Amino acid sequence: MFSNLLAFHSLFRWLVIILLLITIALFTYKYFTKETFSIKNYRLLQITCWILNVQLVIGILLFSKSQLVYLLWDNFQETVKMRQPRFFGLEHPSMMLLGIILFNYFTFKVRNKINTTKAVTYFLKRFIIILIIILSSIPWSFSPLTNRPNFRDFYLTNL
Ligand code: HEM
Repeated sequence: MFSNLLAFHSLFRWLVIILLLITIALFTYKYFTKETFSIKNYRLLQITCWILNVQLVIGILLFSKSQLVYLLWDNFQETVKMRQPRFFGLEHPSMMLLGIILFNYFTFKVRNKINTTKAVTYFLKRFIIILIIILSSIPWSFSPLTNRPNFRDFYLTNL
């Protein structure tokens, strides 16, 4: 159960990233063409928000079952010095939570700015910051800090 959830969380990250990149590409396009932000564009933001919230729910489930998280919170003073428990029990969840809350908040705010051009610059900057927060908190396979496979097998999950 845990390993399949972990594999799903890992795979689902690609959908999160693709949607965030599409959102930013859309805002960048609007910025250069000076087009207004339409209700159709707003739907894309809502979909991205939903996908992020699904990832959040899976993350919370993993958090409540992870051995690394237990390890950290059982003996915080000692294990906070260890890279993996600190990353998965503290840094990763808090940064992702921050990114997801900000995305929800700004999506909510965009609602009042539909059909205006002024909003585009404002939101473009904020969504880029959110993308940076999320991308930098992913345990990429190439990360020197904490790494995990970029594509995890659903059946042979080994940590
Ligand atoms: C955009 C949001 C998120 C993305 C893209 C993301 C991505 C990832 C990735 C790629 C992994 C490694 C999976 C693997 O080992 O193959 C991971 C692990 C994990 N994530 Fe997230 N995550 C997100 C949000 C969250 C949130 C909000 C929480 C908790 C509240 C969370 C909790 C965890 C935990 C506990 C693990 C590791 C569990 C373990 O190995 O024991 N994640 N996440």
